[in-house]
Amino acid sequence: MKFQVPRGTRDILPGEVERWHWLEERTRDVMRRYGYREVRTPLFEATDLFVRSVGESTDIVRKELYTFADRKGRSLTLRPEGTAPLVRAYLESPAVRAESPARLYYLGPMFRYERPQAGRYRQFWQIGAELLGSAKPEADAEMIDLFRAIVEEVGLENVTVLLNSLGDAVCRPRYREAIRAYFEGRIEDLCGDCKERLKTNPLRILDCKVPSCAPVIAGAPNVLDSLCAPCAEHFDAVKNALDRLSIRYEVAPRLVRGLDYYTRTVFEIHAAGLGAQNAVGGGGRYDQLVKDFGGPDTPAIGFSIGMERLLLAAGEAAPSEPPRPDVCVIALAPEAAVEAQVLANQLRTPAAMQVLVDVQGRSASAQMKWASKVGARWAVFVPKGKEGYAVRDMAAGEDAPNQPGVAELRAWLLARRGLVESAR
Ligand code: HAM
Repeated sequence: MKFQVPRGTRDILPGEVERWHWLEERTRDVMRRYGYREVRTPLFEATDLFVRSVGESTDIVRKELYTFADRKGRSLTLRPEGTAPLVRAYLESPAVRAESPARLYYLGPMFRYERPQAGRYRQFWQIGAELLGSAKPEADAEMIDLFRAIVEEVGLENVTVLLNSLGDAVCRPRYREAIRAYFEGRIEDLCGDCKERLKTNPLRILDCKVPSCAPVIAGAPNVLDSLCAPCAEHFDAVKNALDRLSIRYEVAPRLVRGLDYYTRTVFEIHAAGLGAQNAVGGGGRYDQLVKDFGGPDTPAIGFSIGMERLLLAAGEAAPSEPPRPDVCVIALAPEAAVEAQVLANQLRTPAAMQVLVDVQGRSASAQMKWASKVGARWAVFVPKGKEGYAVRDMAAGEDAPNQPGVAELRAWLLARRGLVESAR
């Protein structure tokens, strides 16, 4: 075999794809119930869009972008996340901007050049939701509640919400200085990357996963102690709302997240059984991003969920069985093959029935074996005989009454499936 799937990517094949459909359908249903509408943005964007939002000093921008020049030499990047593209789309569309607040979601592949391992890929899928146009703590609560609703919809129990606040333009610079002073005094204990982070973005040190940095990080000043009064009040109001919504959370003062656009609230949801990659998803408030992109002052908050991780955590709850066909139409003679296709179409047309037909010129007995192998509920035989269509109940292993015509056959099958023929 000459070709292999690229490292860090995978094919989602029949047998697994049913699990994805299941997750997508459930997600869309939750989004609909909360009033969120879908946005589909391109898979690539101008590189600058991500550099300016995710942040120059983040791992994502420094090490993980798939960047390329197009034929005119423009620098483009496969999207590593969905928030910056969504904000761009929001700013470009007067109709979407007119909605205030705008409740939007997306679902699709993202690309990061990371070291692949279980739950971490170079192409992975995210579900994301963004609420643009509210600075109120109720918006934060709605977001976390929506996240919880999706996770519950797919049957996850045992999840932990981690919650923190990173302050705003008033108190964050003060905290940054406190952190810088603290780490400067302990520079020798930091890893090479963190020494660099100390110069560019000291807050990023709190996110370092290198074990030797852990004890230094553990002693660092607590961000919650340096919040200004309005940020502290906002954080309290968010916690209050979560209590009222019966959402359990843990305050996690070391949670900074891997992207630079956050202000105030940040959160993650962790699930049992995911090992090292135990964050199902995360998000936070980004009150400055729309303005940074040249738009009006528009506070916003959102989250993304890794779909591979959510499916991993959902385990058996996500079904992998394909739906079984209702009917196989069996051509009793080669000349009846096209008639079988015509009848199959007539049976598929009204609504929900899945009808299969042989396209390989197999003998009638080979077709019957195939019908039972694919688990068809009924076999219907063509050509039609003098007594009408012969029908076999494959599940019961016995012949069913003949049906005089297509209309009767369809009505008979639908009734047995508990369906009513649509009136048309
Ligand atoms: P993020 O934390 O970078 O946030 O990614 C969110 C989730 O995507 C992670 O918790 C994880 O489940 C999944 N994920 C990230 N990288 C990978 C990977 N290499 N392989 C598999 N899954 C992965 C964001 O992307 C922000 N846009 C979230 C947000 C939305 N903030 C505000 N709005």
